Amino acid sequence: MRATVFGTGYVGLVTGTCLAEVGHQVTCVDVDEAKVAGLRNGIVPIFEPGLAPMVLANHGAGRLDFTTDAAAAIKGAEVIFIAVGTPPDEDGSADLQYVLAVAATVGRHLSDPVVVVNKSTVPVGTADKVRAAISAELAARGADVRFEVVSNPEFLKEGAAVNDCMRPDRIVLGARSATAVETMKRLYAPFTRSHERFVVMDERSAELTKYAANAMLATKISFMNEMANIAERVGADIEQVRQGIGSDPRIGYHFIYPGAGYGGSCFPKDVQALERTARRHGYQAGLLQAVEAVNDRQKHKLAELALRHFGGDIAGKTFAVWGLAFKPNTDDMREAASRSLLADLWQAGAKVRAYDPEAMAETRRLFGGRADLVLCEDPSDTLEGADALVLVTEWKAFWSPDFPALARTLRERVVFDGRNVWDPVQVEAAGLAYYGIGRGRSL
Ligand code: UGA
Repeated sequence: MRATVFGTGYVGLVTGTCLAEVGHQVTCVDVDEAKVAGLRNGIVPIFEPGLAPMVLANHGAGRLDFTTDAAAAIKGAEVIFIAVGTPPDEDGSADLQYVLAVAATVGRHLSDPVVVVNKSTVPVGTADKVRAAISAELAARGADVRFEVVSNPEFLKEGAAVNDCMRPDRIVLGARSATAVETMKRLYAPFTRSHERFVVMDERSAELTKYAANAMLATKISFMNEMANIAERVGADIEQVRQGIGSDPRIGYHFIYPGAGYGGSCFPKDVQALERTARRHGYQAGLLQAVEAVNDRQKHKLAELALRHFGGDIAGKTFAVWGLAFKPNTDDMREAASRSLLADLWQAGAKVRAYDPEAMAETRRLFGGRADLVLCEDPSDTLEGADALVLVTEWKAFWSPDFPALARTLRERVVFDGRNVWDPVQVEAAGLAYYGIGRGRSL
């Protein structure tokens, strides 16, 4: 089938590439000429395991193309995906200007019947707005082309995007018409061979499903961070509590890891946008507000522990920081906990020597040129002249450091484990002070 994807960000690029991989003819459209030129040469602007070779292979095979020419890409497409950004506007609501601009473009150039798919995370009611925007453009030029708008939210995770897209656990589809459902089922057939994965519903429910999923996941994390903060105060160890509750299948082991707060381009934005939507409908979503508040506080947890250890004064101290991306396997630093930590450390007069396996270029872009930041080549480089070590992102490469060597190198012999990946007993046996998240024994 012929599919066109607007937007070559995480969602658009991964979706387009996976559709080409299973044999569809895909055109990806972006307004950024440099990005399009790069993609044609296999230059993938994001770090996502497995994506670059797949882009290159499918482009080489002639199934995946990139263009800035929207009109040409719309012509002949059976399915058009809208996968452009929905950044928060000033009050935290999702800004729909890019989504609606694509809808208008589709309306201006549409000549064949098509299914338009909302893939971006969009507030409830957006399918109606997209439909209206396309209709308005068609009417303006006196054209009458049949089109359907469906909502098909994306659930992929950064760092595992290709796998999530190739093996979705469900395909949520909000649609009004049986024809649109049939078209989408044909498009996704290669992904649903082993068993039915479609959950078909009305558009508004599909739109809300996306927010509900992210809000639920964010709630689990804030809940665990809240428990961690209680555990710390009562002398309990959240890691033992985590295992104790995860063994109940109704709770489960997934996504209950306490840490330095959730980040990324989705949870913070989506929880906030859903809370704003509720407010606009006259409902105070107290739980969502609390989820957000707990997370905002948690992002300062590591700096708080450091200040506590050093008696409230860290001016002039040097901190080695391991991990800057908002989670492992990505170079993305949007809303990353590391950013709050760096800001807090600098604010208190401390210096930072930082390393991340993938996010150094992004760190340079964000903070390059600061006198109180040294960008390091590897983890051991960060330790030179450092007083303390803070682990912020749990890259596998950081899981088993040589603790006795750390104890010899770190001037103040203290580590702060923002993801509870180290064994406090082992760390302390090496002669280091250990601080984790919610580990009462470290008080
Ligand atoms: C998230 C969702 O997991 C995806 O299902 C969704 O499609 C995506 O948002 C989206 O809306 O596009 P992502 O932002 O890539 O995916 O990252 P996650 O793996 O969910 O992690 C988010 C944050 O939560 C990270 O900062 C991570 O460190 C933190 N986290 C995660 C915890 O603190 N504890 C956990 O137990 C799990």
